[in-house]
Amino acid sequence: MIKKETIDRITETALVEEVVGDFVQLKKRGTSFIGLCPFHNEKSPSFNVSPAKGIYKCFGCGKGGDSISFVMEHEKYSYPEALKYLAKKYNIEVDESEITPEYQAEVDKRESLYIISNYAAKFFESTMWESPSGQAIGLSYFRERGFRDDIIKKFELGYSPDEWTALHDKAIADGYRPEFLEETGLSVKNDSGKVYDRFRGRVMFPIHNFTGRIIGFGGRTLKTDKNVPKYVNSPESDIYHKSNVLYGLFQAKKAIRDVDNCYLVEGYADVLSVHQAGVQNVVAASGTSLTPEHVKIMARVTQNVTILFDGDAAGIKASLRGLDMILEEGLNAKVVLFPDGHDPDSYIQKLGSAAFKTHIELHQQDFIFFKTQILLKEAANDPIKKAAVIRDIIESIARIPDAIKASVFVRECSALLNVEERILIAELNNIKLTKLKKNYTRNQPDAETPQPATHSPQPEDESPLPIARGSLNEPDEAQEQELIRVLISYGDTLVNWDGMTDTYIGPYIITNLSDITFNNTLCQRIITYYHNEFDKGIMPSEKSMLHHPDKEIKNLAIALISSPYMLSANWYDMHHINVPDEKTNLKATIMGAIFHLKKKKIATMLAAKQKLLQAPNNPEQEQQLMQQYLQLKEVEKYISHYLGSVIIK
Ligand code: UTP
Ligand code: MN
Repeated sequence: MIKKETIDRITETALVEEVVGDFVQLKKRGTSFIGLCPFHNEKSPSFNVSPAKGIYKCFGCGKGGDSISFVMEHEKYSYPEALKYLAKKYNIEVDESEITPEYQAEVDKRESLYIISNYAAKFFESTMWESPSGQAIGLSYFRERGFRDDIIKKFELGYSPDEWTALHDKAIADGYRPEFLEETGLSVKNDSGKVYDRFRGRVMFPIHNFTGRIIGFGGRTLKTDKNVPKYVNSPESDIYHKSNVLYGLFQAKKAIRDVDNCYLVEGYADVLSVHQAGVQNVVAASGTSLTPEHVKIMARVTQNVTILFDGDAAGIKASLRGLDMILEEGLNAKVVLFPDGHDPDSYIQKLGSAAFKTHIELHQQDFIFFKTQILLKEAANDPIKKAAVIRDIIESIARIPDAIKASVFVRECSALLNVEERILIAELNNIKLTKLKKNYTRNQPDAETPQPATHSPQPEDESPLPIARGSLNEPDEAQEQELIRVLISYGDTLVNWDGMTDTYIGPYIITNLSDITFNNTLCQRIITYYHNEFDKGIMPSEKSMLHHPDKEIKNLAIALISSPYMLSANWYDMHHINVPDEKTNLKATIMGAIFHLKKKKIATMLAAKQKLLQAPNNPEQEQQLMQQYLQLKEVEKYISHYLGSVIIK
């Protein structure tokens, strides 16, 4: 257990803005800081850090807490792990002898995987620096490639002995459990149950997570044999997910933040060389191609990415499409190409750091222009190919969320492509509309899955599909009956609606519902009854309805009036209307009933349109449906707004 005094010191010392700032790019706003929330996906910052209060809060997803809870949430640490992390960050000593069995129990499996990975890294490191074969083979390999000792140490590089079970045997002898060696992939079990080391006779690159813990390895062979894979990488495990780890990020993050730019290279060796050249803001997607998660991780540290490409035309063309996701995340993407088949590593080793930096300065280019030039060169004078190029480029631009930025690119590309700007804009809008459509259909809720009827006391959200709240499965009856209830209760009551004339509520409701058909036939019958009575100049009273000759109408009236607020309690809550007070704010009561019913009906209509949009008969119908859908959305928005704001007043 960690002592109370230690915990107190940690809490006092750890500044929330610094702790959060290690993971989130924060900008000062007034007395607090804001940034992009690391706990949910967002493009505009709603994540707030208050140094004065020592807390953070996201207004988007609602997550909030202090330094300790931030580290626990973000790094998935247990409480003691989070404390230890902060203690390390602030050089606060934690007395390990205080560890009790309870703490031991908290050291869960993940912790064991971290520990064994760290153990292995230390083993590879000491093998390289201390054993004769490590020095002769591993260390001399790195040195011959030009890597300085300080860089080798900084990245904790090592060497795995060229034996079948060197690591395994040592780990077991030191008391580590074989299952954790297997789970991290450090050991492999073959079909006959024999266990051996995955990494043998390779130079080792440990892979760190954001906080610097080792989670996996890349091991490079020193053989030139084509049949031996050049790199062997750790498999995915509970602590290592290739798709969201960037090699070198732990060593680079401070520099990335300082210069507000991140260089993206292809290989481990490139990261080391560029770093050694004094450019420390460099990372690589290790052992996999770039994923959207990688881009999101970068986006939390900087908005500017510069991709350093090896100069191989075929490879570049293949990766262009994948890079669009960088634009999609709203990042500024630049590209630098290296000549003569050089990668950053070989360029630096051959021409030196100064030449490397100059090359980057002189040759960096916006990604869109880079792509335009590459594709244009290929299309040469073929008009059909050129049309495809234009579409391709505009498709990339369509992914840029910032409209102003996109329009600048459109203008400049129009010059590069020699195509009128308005044609490009038309194409851009076209692509955007198609995308919008796709999104609507993709977000369609699964009609098979019953949607829970959520009645949380929150303002109506502006999510692209509030309809996903399951209007198809949840009948409109609650809203219909609530409307009938207020009609019966207050239909013959006079209210001064606008401060000028007194109006009967009943006729007001009926006129306002002329465009609605009730699902429930009994409710519809009551509406029709009222309609006919009004035409005859009669205002049915509550009493007359409770004694109505039509037995069904009478029973419903009694049921509704005797338990009057059951059905609508939720939305009264929602709008802070005290239920017994519904009479004192009759206008709110009536309008609430009308608009909630209308909202429900619109949600049902929207769901129906969506369903049709999934498989339209023809493009014309699709276009038409799309338009109707958008119109309904507008009405829905208007009603939500009304319900959210006006009604309470
Ligand atoms: P490279 O072949 O460019 O590797 O592959 P490198 O790091 O530049 O290695 P050197 O310079 O030959 O020593 C780029 C990256 O692709 C992954 C590794 O992450 C490598 O760094 N890779 C490559 C593998 O995962 N497996 C392989 O067999 C090859
Ligand atoms: Mn290389």
